[in-house]
Amino acid sequence: MKREAAYGAGARDAAPRRRVVVDLGARSYDILIGPGLIDEAGAEIAARLPGVRAAIVTDESVGGLYLTRLSVALRAAGIEHVEIVLPAGEKSKSFDQLTRVVDEILAARLERGDAVIALGGGVIGDLAGFASAIVRRGMRFVQLPTTLLAQVDSSVGGKTGINTPRGKNLVGAFHQPSLVLADTALLDTLPPREFAAGYAELVKYGLIDRPAFFEMLETGLDAVFGGGTERGEAIRVSCEAKAAVVAADEEEHGSRALLNLGHTFGHALEAAVGYDPARLVHGEGVAIGMVLAHRFSAELGLCPMEDADRVAAHLVAAGLPVTIGAIPGALLTAAELMRGIAQDKKVQRGQLTFILTRGIGRAFVASDVDPQAVEAFLEKELKR
Ligand SMILES: NC(=O)c1ccc[n+]([C@@H]2O[C@H](COP(=O)([O-])OP(=O)(O)OC[C@H]3O[C@@H](n4cnc5c(N)ncnc54)[C@H](O)[C@@H]3O)[C@@H](O)[C@H]2O)c1
Ligand SMILES: [Zn+2]
Repeated sequence: MKREAAYGAGARDAAPRRRVVVDLGARSYDILIGPGLIDEAGAEIAARLPGVRAAIVTDESVGGLYLTRLSVALRAAGIEHVEIVLPAGEKSKSFDQLTRVVDEILAARLERGDAVIALGGGVIGDLAGFASAIVRRGMRFVQLPTTLLAQVDSSVGGKTGINTPRGKNLVGAFHQPSLVLADTALLDTLPPREFAAGYAELVKYGLIDRPAFFEMLETGLDAVFGGGTERGEAIRVSCEAKAAVVAADEEEHGSRALLNLGHTFGHALEAAVGYDPARLVHGEGVAIGMVLAHRFSAELGLCPMEDADRVAAHLVAAGLPVTIGAIPGALLTAAELMRGIAQDKKVQRGQLTFILTRGIGRAFVASDVDPQAVEAFLEKELKR
């Protein structure tokens, strides 16, 4: 369960601060949302973790834009800190970079009660979070997510980790932050393609169980992209949606699976293009995957085809691809996509588990999906 409340009004901004509480008993924490929060990071952190010292972990791109501002804000609140700057990109979620981060935290003589502060997208959040989970058996952790994906998804829920040559996110830990500060104005410098990719995850929450939110996005799309107050509100609703799922199922034993809507098809598409971001980034795979999940549900007679069309129309308006054919480069085959699906999902007694839907906002876990029906469906989709 979660609570949310207005969080006063920003002094410089007309837009209100928003707050979502992730309710995990003694480990509950605030997500604060609004423009300009980076400049208040020192005060917000010091209020919750008095006397804390810190290591800021960031990447070269984000650091170049925002590290000085964060450093000034921390200094103003008397928070001593070191800065650890890594190369940008998914490759940094590695044992090599983890070793480096851990070593620099220890070299700075930070203690268990001190904090690792992640300033960046999901890559930095996952890596810095994992370092904070393992150094001295668990330090404090603060997230300043700087991508839309990180603000609505990866910074909420406590999943941290790195990749190995055998696959993504195979080594990690659940470790909840003490605070998340989502400065919505930082998204103004995000490349448009990254913004759109994060937007797919935001749409996902509407499609799972919040049809009114999906409608709000349909009318508010331009304002969310343009930085209007709708942006903060959309991020708040998304964090609230994810926080509710996390509070109900922190370590993903059951209902947290709904967050995988669109992800079984999406992951299979990402794998089929060899995780080549020039061809497909994660959120684009999710966008196509969500449309496929709706179309497949429609084909099974579960969901009106008009709902699938409506989802596709909205994602197209957001600049996202919605068909497999929209992926540039060599053609994919149903057989290779099925291999990816089999790897992504546990196949139990010959049946697949999928997130299907009865319509917009009515997703459910189906654990008896016939792989042959999926393959036949993909054959047809590949010809669209
Ligand atoms: N822990 C979770 O629950 C969870 C959930 C979803 C995804 N993830 C992970 O998140 C990662 C992807 O995160 P991402 O999409 O944020 O990618 P990312 O962290 O690589 O950021 C994308 C790019 O945008 C740049 N960038 C970030 N913020 C910017 C800003 N404000 N202005 C300009 N440039 C900026 C970064 O330098 C990077 O080049 C993946 O590794 C994925 O596994 C984790
Ligand atoms: Zn995702």
